[in-house]
Amino acid sequence: MRALTLRREQTAQGPLILVNSAHPLRSGSGPELAVPDERFPDVLLERRAAGLLAACVRAAGGERDIVPVSGWRSQAEQQSIWNDTLAKEGEDFTRRYVALPGCSEHQTGLAIDLGKRAEAIDFIRPDFPDEGSCGVFRRLAAKYGFILRYRREKEAVTGIGAEPWHFRYVGTPHAALMEKHGLCLEEYGTFLETGPKHCALANGRRVEVFRLACPGELIEAELPEGCCQISGDNAGGFILTVWEALS
Ligand code: DAL
Ligand code: ZN
Repeated sequence: MRALTLRREQTAQGPLILVNSAHPLRSGSGPELAVPDERFPDVLLERRAAGLLAACVRAAGGERDIVPVSGWRSQAEQQSIWNDTLAKEGEDFTRRYVALPGCSEHQTGLAIDLGKRAEAIDFIRPDFPDEGSCGVFRRLAAKYGFILRYRREKEAVTGIGAEPWHFRYVGTPHAALMEKHGLCLEEYGTFLETGPKHCALANGRRVEVFRLACPGELIEAELPEGCCQISGDNAGGFILTVWEALS
């Protein structure tokens, strides 16, 4: 076991942060960004998510047909998308499909909107069907660490309308656990609070996931040996991921 001090402000950072209207983005530093598809140099994603998105698109045979429509957004860009949509489509539509500025996970660089290649692609609601390479991408996404973030059956929990085009990078163990247990990101922290969870990855490696609450300014954590990721959850805690040591 190793001891580590974690500070409350660190709960706002990491690849598993929940960002929604009740959990605004609090992290000051921006993500390290990269271009997932050179044909669209203006669409950026967090560096690791960009590499895995490109790999998933390739595995789905979607290099021609899958278009990255919107990735990382600055606060100013989210504000201008909000203002434009409000002016054009009205408040109900805007609240359904655009997160409040400061509360969009696009601002983390971990979310991507994908569209099927077409003459004209709707920026707010791109068409990303279940057929063809788009459908294959959807079915492969969890293996590359992406979840379909806004499902119709979770509208009451996420507060956002169904968005079959919006994927969020969380990492493979978490995407696998959320998929297996039918959870959205809002529900994942509560699920982990019930105790450590385990999953086996496609490569045979076993992973343990658990949550540590950080009720005060700092906590002293005892970490198991092995490769470990610590991410804040932006909800007062940390999600720890421990990859079982390779023998
Ligand atoms: N369309 C999603 C909810 C966003 O604006 O972040
Ligand atoms: Zn989106």
